[in-house]
Amino acid sequence: MTPTTGSKTAADIAALLRARNPLLLVVTREEARFERFAMEIAQGANLELRCWDCATGISNINGEPKNGGTSALEPSAALAAIRDSRERQLWILRDMSAWLRDPTVTRGLRSLARMLPMAPRDQARAIILLSPTNDIPPELSGHAIVIEFPLPDRAEIAGLLDAAIAALPDDLKATACPNGARDLAIDSAVGLSQEEATACFSKSLVVERKINPASVASEKKRIITRAGLESVEPIAGGLDAIGGLDNLKAWLIERAGAFTQAARTYGLPTPRGVLLVGQPGCGKSLTAKAVAAAWGVPLLRGDLGALKSKYVGESEGKLRNFFKVVEALGRCVLWFDEIDKVFSGADDNTAADGGVQSDQLGAMLSFMQDRTCEAFIVATANAVNKLPAALLRKGRFDRIFFVDLPTELERIAILKTAMRQHKREAVGIDHAAIAAACNNFTGSEIAALVPDALFISYNDGKRELATADLLTVARGTMPLSRTAAASIEASRQWGKANALPASSEIAATSANVCRLDI
Ligand SMILES: Nc1ncnc2c1ncn2[C@@H]1O[C@H](COP(=O)(O)OP(=O)(O)O)[C@@H](O)[C@H]1O
Ligand SMILES: [Mg+2]
Repeated sequence: MTPTTGSKTAADIAALLRARNPLLLVVTREEARFERFAMEIAQGANLELRCWDCATGISNINGEPKNGGTSALEPSAALAAIRDSRERQLWILRDMSAWLRDPTVTRGLRSLARMLPMAPRDQARAIILLSPTNDIPPELSGHAIVIEFPLPDRAEIAGLLDAAIAALPDDLKATACPNGARDLAIDSAVGLSQEEATACFSKSLVVERKINPASVASEKKRIITRAGLESVEPIAGGLDAIGGLDNLKAWLIERAGAFTQAARTYGLPTPRGVLLVGQPGCGKSLTAKAVAAAWGVPLLRGDLGALKSKYVGESEGKLRNFFKVVEALGRCVLWFDEIDKVFSGADDNTAADGGVQSDQLGAMLSFMQDRTCEAFIVATANAVNKLPAALLRKGRFDRIFFVDLPTELERIAILKTAMRQHKREAVGIDHAAIAAACNNFTGSEIAALVPDALFISYNDGKRELATADLLTVARGTMPLSRTAAASIEASRQWGKANALPASSEIAATSANVCRLDI
């Protein structure tokens, strides 16, 4: 059996303890789950487990008072007990984020961090600080090793589901998880904490007397929304829903199989993500929705705006939680729409929000750089001048594509997809004539011709849509390119210098397109 991400992290912690690292900060909201892993770590390393919190004082893992017990409610008393103990022990100090602001506590921990590695082997002691955030005061940053404890992965969630079913009376067990429901229920619960997943399964069992993946999914929806994620329905038809953008589509198709076991065995690198920059209304958001459908993976929209907190540092904590959930979700498309709006000003340290944006940007960049998870990021942006430079650097996105106004051939393709969406036959329509009348239109302006033209043909005796109707609407349209010519040209220049063209035709017609392999 492959180890779960939780047990792998526990093995890493055990190795750090064997190497006599005296002080670890484990970041998790799941105290009870972590302590179960800690029990195994302690047993494996032949250490006695001691727990401290300010309500119970010092106890063993079963809550029985030890080393001063309830008389040691102050953190300084716990630190003194660690110092004075002569046994091999692993100490878990709970809820430490609040205490780490107290200089007597940080001083005490620092002294212990220096002293404990010198203790003889039979008195070896180590400390694990439990905290829901990874804010570590500068006094401790050189002493404590920070470890993000992952949420339960698929295998661990499967174990929770099996345990919930095993606890049922025999007559219910057989029917509790109908064929096919098991995998769906597990998929639905990935991304939740152990307690949340168990609560979802139990609720479904109590209310419906069986595991209903749909109710697990709706429960999860509620929980991931709180984390700043929204699950979005991918577009039916996948990449066929996009007219043009052939370079971009070819790149995406080439990477479709990258997450399979075969690709992993072969050693294909896991794609991280793509940044789509360009003119508004030309298919960037559409691509995000289509790629999830094409790859058959869930689509999640990350709402970075909702994670903004007016307190510097706090929103970074929320963002870390957000990425933890994303990691646990496994294969998915993670879509950040219009990141230029969220990060405008992130380069500017004097920003009015006191650096919240730079915090968020920092957390997002480090996620993109180090992550081991399987989420594929699709980020979109309209305004090129508001993109922080750090986001464009090598090693972040696999590619940056520039999406320009559609070429003539692309306009025809977009028109055809729009006709299909409105269930209209393309026969008898002179696409070329319409495309010529739509020079410099955006994709959304072209797509909007069809519904508008349908009103004309409907009101004219409910006849079939004709080329003339579409032309009438096209001639009456005031395209964005006429009112925003300067900004369109400016972003086009930016695209030439910083991105790959999303459409090959543009590359073929413009002489000085600079292809950067970003
Ligand atoms: N290349 C395209 N192919 C098909 N439809 C398009 C294309 N570009 C734009 N559209 C239409 O315009 C709408 C808005 O496009 P969208 O992808 O949201 O633009 P943006 O680039 O601003 O994110 C889409 O929902 C679709 O109907
Ligand atoms: Mg958009």
